[in-house]
Amino acid sequence: NVYDVNFKGCALPERCVNRSLNLGLIQTLISSSCCTTKLCNSANAPEPVQSQPNGKSCFSCVGQSCTSSLACTGNQDFCYSASVTVDGQYIPVRGCVPKEMCQGHSSCCEGDLCNSASSTSAGLLLIMAPLLSLGLLS
Ligand SMILES: *[C@@H]1O[C@H](CO)[C@@H](O)[C@H](O)[C@H]1NC(C)=O
Repeated sequence: NVYDVNFKGCALPERCVNRSLNLGLIQTLISSSCCTTKLCNSANAPEPVQSQPNGKSCFSCVGQSCTSSLACTGNQDFCYSASVTVDGQYIPVRGCVPKEMCQGHSSCCEGDLCNSASSTSAGLLLIMAPLLSLGLLS
């Protein structure tokens, strides 16, 4: 399934970025454009562009099994590992993420297929919360 979601509003400068992360089941591409004058954001942001594989790979999960290898793209230089509990069900989540999403999180590692160990992090909630709130994962 592909969901195309547009957001508009007021934002801090650090939110004006292009990002992509790939958690196997969920791939998110974010493209943003920001401006600083009154009501200047009438146009939609450009469609995000899928970047090329960068030669790195990380484990990703299919159901409870986290043994498949995922090709990272663009600036997804780190591997990510976390577990979430949804409705009492434990769901492991692994994949490729950019450096910016790893700051302050022990759930990231650098190096091919380095994310074999499981790890729990609130960081994932930051990533998933917008998706959850939109009902995209239900
Ligand atoms: C994001 O990428 C688009 C092209 O897809 C570009 O037009 C835009 O300026 C970029 N935004 C930022 C914040 O770099």
